[in-house]
Amino acid sequence: MKAVVQRRYGSASFGELDVPVPGQGEVLLEVRAAGVDMGTWHLLTGKPYLLRYIGFGVRGPKSPVPGRDVSGVVTRLGPGVTEFAVGDEVFGTCEGAFAEYAVAPVSRLARKPAGTSFAEAAALPISGGTALQGLRGVRAGQRVAVLGAGGGVGSYAVQIAKSLGAHVTGVCSTRKVELVRSLGADEVVDYTVADFTGTFDLIFDCGGNRSLSKMRKMLTPRGTLVLVGAETGGAVTGGFERSLAAVVLNLFVSQKLVPLMTAERADVFEELRVLVEAGSLKAPVEREFPLSEGLDAIEHVYSRRVLGKVVVTI
Ligand SMILES: NC(=O)c1ccc[n+]([C@@H]2O[C@H](COP(=O)([O-])OP(=O)(O)OC[C@H]3O[C@@H](n4cnc5c(N)ncnc54)[C@H](OP(=O)(O)O)[C@@H]3O)[C@@H](O)[C@H]2O)c1
Repeated sequence: MKAVVQRRYGSASFGELDVPVPGQGEVLLEVRAAGVDMGTWHLLTGKPYLLRYIGFGVRGPKSPVPGRDVSGVVTRLGPGVTEFAVGDEVFGTCEGAFAEYAVAPVSRLARKPAGTSFAEAAALPISGGTALQGLRGVRAGQRVAVLGAGGGVGSYAVQIAKSLGAHVTGVCSTRKVELVRSLGADEVVDYTVADFTGTFDLIFDCGGNRSLSKMRKMLTPRGTLVLVGAETGGAVTGGFERSLAAVVLNLFVSQKLVPLMTAERADVFEELRVLVEAGSLKAPVEREFPLSEGLDAIEHVYSRRVLGKVVVTI
């Protein structure tokens, strides 16, 4: 099969590999699309170095193919699989989505939402799942601010917070303003022309460049700060120290500081499917790249200029 092949951190090329064989509880997918996010770039480069020590491979990547977000058609069942049949259209996560075929555990797959393309479905799992999990507990009428609202996770967070009945303020740079408004934000702050001010019940931070103290000052006394991620840290920890500081600070303050670690699970993807089919969530796919240009797709995401999501289609 054709695939983007990655034997070492920091180097990959378009090549050929054997088609993988599904094991217990796994299916073989004919991949139709692979989602691209900052995580894809992190796993390609092995940076921050911390991630090499949390299960992704110390000397080199465990998976010879990048890409986790996937959508496709089930073509073969591994032993013990009863949840899906050959021919089912699914989406979820796997190891090695930048290929014509990939093996995925059924514990990380759900049926593709009716009425969506494979590209849209592949753009959903990690970014959509992160937004969903980070906004649990939001109630109607609460004031929610989404920082990085025009990016992959943020564009879903705006929509999900709106579907929960919150009053949503999206914060982004100029070229993302129209997108964030179109996703349903009640207010959009272009931080390049105006200061981001106000008081919020929840701040959902996908940008990562504001200090904890600055954000705490913009929270109600019992408000919640969800730390999704940051690209502002160094090559070693990648800004993880901000999450560590939040854990310690949590012991002493009335506000809730939540370093988010998303779970990739079938039930989360099932919730996304329901939201999409109800018309409450759509995947804002800015651009599709062919598999042979998968590395360009990752670089494009790294540029941080993407409006919403980028997908590789096969
Ligand atoms: N915790 C988890 O489990 C989890 C899951 C998924 C992703 N993440 C992390 O969450 C972060 C956001 O992911 P994403 O996929 O949404 O990324 P993305 O598509 O690049 O979006 C991030 C947005 O934040 C803003 N931004 C980027 N760098 C910034 C900087 N240095 N200072 C200020 N704003 C900046 C950009 O918007 P503007 O141009 O408008 O500033 C960008 O649209 C990444 O660090 C990612 O690794 C964490």
